[in-house]
Amino acid sequence: MSKENNSKDIKERKIEHLKIPLEHDVQHSKNYFNDMKLIHHPIPDIDLEEVDLSTKFFNKKISAPICISAITGGHPISKEINEILAKAAEEENILMSVGSQRAGIEDVTLLDSFKITRDVAPYIPIIGNIGIGQVSDFNFDIQDFSKCIEMINADVMAIHLNVLHELVQDKGDTSYRLFRKNFQKLRETYNIPIIAKEVGTGFNQEVALNLDKLGFDGFDIGGAGGTSFAAIESKRNNLNNQRYTRDPAEVFREWGIPTPISIIYVRNVSQKPIIATGGLRTGIDIAKSIALGADLGGFAYNFLVSSWKDRKEKSISNTVKEIRTLKSELRSCLWLMNIDELAKLKGRRDKYVLLGELYRWLNQ
Ligand SMILES: Cc1cc2nc3c(=O)[nH]c(=O)nc-3n(C[C@H](O)[C@H](O)[C@H](O)COP(=O)(O)O)c2cc1C
Repeated sequence: MSKENNSKDIKERKIEHLKIPLEHDVQHSKNYFNDMKLIHHPIPDIDLEEVDLSTKFFNKKISAPICISAITGGHPISKEINEILAKAAEEENILMSVGSQRAGIEDVTLLDSFKITRDVAPYIPIIGNIGIGQVSDFNFDIQDFSKCIEMINADVMAIHLNVLHELVQDKGDTSYRLFRKNFQKLRETYNIPIIAKEVGTGFNQEVALNLDKLGFDGFDIGGAGGTSFAAIESKRNNLNNQRYTRDPAEVFREWGIPTPISIIYVRNVSQKPIIATGGLRTGIDIAKSIALGADLGGFAYNFLVSSWKDRKEKSISNTVKEIRTLKSELRSCLWLMNIDELAKLKGRRDKYVLLGELYRWLNQ
């Protein structure tokens, strides 16, 4: 396929990816955070305002452990969305990720849709994003990684692992044999922290240990329970839908390791920073993730919804309000547990109970 056609394809796909979760139910049928309860404390010794949500992501201080997860880039509408998200993240001083930067590498006219984030958010930490498919490519050009970093003056880079998504989409990548070898070249060349990011199917313990040893500096869990990329693909005009008696994207829509379980798996084998993503919908879910051992909570769906509203209203107020809501919920939750700082919650097995399917996953 010519580079021009390829970039047109990516552009169209980007816009479908944005619209489908807004117009259809592409969430996993089960949100596993519902199988987890935090332990209430009836007489808090602290005042609500004393709860300190601030934390650090690598060496930058942020006001709360909240990440706007990778959503988009590579289309004029993506530029508007990224501008809204980055302005709101800067105003509230939280962490932000851009979506896959592949489009910006393949077509310079799309660079702006990523670059805008740093233009409007000079201070916050921003995570860049590249896919396992690109890194595993036989013709992988290590300079592409520099281009991603420079595009947004990234503080950290994420390599997203989206093999289920590739499997169920038309002409997706289904060979990753060169990934480790090519990653090692990246690791030897760049000092920037690089995290491994899943997109809705989670990490098992073995792979997490392997990636930790390979030199990854952290993880974005992207477990099952929230947005399902297989479900998104099943709504796209996908040849696979017609090729088989059953649509593979539909059959695999529930596939994956639940986010809470994957947090435990990764924390069992790595002491590096963990962003918990995949089905977090409230500030209570951030607290649950931290109790399981994560450092921050990441949200894609919530911010897709808020920024889409903002785009229509030409504002950033819906997104700012969503961030403030998450902060308020998290603060309230910590107060109801008599905890005044995040470090006192992290990995505290005595602060929660696991029920139903979550319990069975861990105790089979
Ligand atoms: C519209 C959309 C686009 C996404 N694009 C990317 C992407 O380009 N790169 C990536 O690493 N993850 C991408 N993701 C995955 C999210 O970052 C996140 O891991 C996943 O959606 C689970 O979070 P959620 O349940 O809060 O939506 C995307 C998610 C959505 C909804």
